[in-house]
Amino acid sequence: MEELAKKARLLMGIVMTLAGVVVVLFVTLIAYHLNPAAFRASPVAENGSTPEASAPVATVPTAAVWHPRSIETDLPAGERGKQIRYGYQLISETPRWLGPHADEPALRLAGNELACKNCHLGAGTKAGAISFVGVAQRFPQFRGREGKMGTLEDRINGCMERSMNGQELPTQSAEMQAMVAYIQWLSEDVPEAKLAEYKGLPAFEIPAIKADTVQGKAIYEAQCQACHGTHGEGIRQPGGGAGYLYPPLWGADSYNHGAGMRRVLTAAPFIKANMPFGVSWENPRLTDEEALHVAAYINHFERPHKANTAEDFPDKKLKPVSTPYGPWEDPFPAEQHQYGPFPPIVDYYQKTFALKKTN
Ligand code: HEC
Ligand code: HEC
Repeated sequence: MEELAKKARLLMGIVMTLAGVVVVLFVTLIAYHLNPAAFRASPVAENGSTPEASAPVATVPTAAVWHPRSIETDLPAGERGKQIRYGYQLISETPRWLGPHADEPALRLAGNELACKNCHLGAGTKAGAISFVGVAQRFPQFRGREGKMGTLEDRINGCMERSMNGQELPTQSAEMQAMVAYIQWLSEDVPEAKLAEYKGLPAFEIPAIKADTVQGKAIYEAQCQACHGTHGEGIRQPGGGAGYLYPPLWGADSYNHGAGMRRVLTAAPFIKANMPFGVSWENPRLTDEEALHVAAYINHFERPHKANTAEDFPDKKLKPVSTPYGPWEDPFPAEQHQYGPFPPIVDYYQKTFALKKTN
């Protein structure tokens, strides 16, 4: 009798435990349904610290939490670390080191007071903003604009002469070597899956329409002017520091007419993925058409002129379709190369030369 009661109590215990487990699971399920974010492991930074309590919980699965190397936490020790840091400074505070008013006269090689990071956001660590992550491995490469193989140093000098409206930096200079070291360091140990995400500009559906500067002006006034100014002149660093808090988009101190950003089909995806400042390629604010209109608007104003651009692209077939200056290897008028509609030009190169154009 005693034995039977014992067994019954045991059975009752098991049943109660199981019921308890079911209740706990059920409550957890409801809680998860109400606030799934609370159930994700909080990301741990590479230096082992957890982010501040106020930081939003990451909305990506932890397995995908990879980030480019940080100058704050990941710099190697010794001479190499110093060189990489200098490269980072040159790219972040370019006017201070290479601008027209730089301390060292021999280094006044940039013609404007832009910084590399004004276009290569996060000093080359932001995806969707022509990042430097993974770039080093892609050089040397064939360069259509020059019609020959080019090194990473040549590519940097392309931006010196056009985006920075200036002159080439000597390949052996400490400054060139430091920028290359920084870009190489950012390009090391990048997971395969991240290389595509960090490469260049995000995919952009070329709208079938012609860009309209009247609509572009309205978008500019509503979404850009507060930072970039009524006349695209930007806002200088407060306190008289070199360069800009918000860089100019046209006029005498902007990139020249031979720069990549001058092409509407390069500027539009950049703007869509990065502007107004704070948006990302995954979370844009402008539509493809709006980005096209505003890109054409900022690029239809006067800006410095680059000499000898007729010599660019010795093989004219390789010229991007929105290159606004001729000559071109096609029958389309100059105006269409500047404002579109671009799909007919893209189709022409596909049919005539079997070339797939994206910008
Ligand atoms: C006004 C914007 C702008 C500025 C300023 C600028 N760049 Fe660029 N840069 C671009 C654009 C646009 C491209 C891509 C052009 C293309 O694909 O044709 C590019 C490409 C590059 C690339 C090749 C990237 C790749 O994915 O292959 C490197 C390296 C580079 N720039 C370095 C620099 C450095 C260093 C500076 C400063 C000295 C600088 N850039 C300043 C706009 C800019
Ligand atoms: C909140 C301020 C802000 C707004 C609004 C804003 N930008 Fe910018 N923009 C910036 C900053 C800051 C940079 C430079 C980024 C850096 O250095 O990190 C920049 C860089 C740029 C650049 C590349 C650098 C250059 O000088 O050419 C372009 C092009 C640009 N913005 C276009 C636009 C357009 C078009 C809009 C409106 C759709 C816009 N921006 C709205 C702050 C802003």
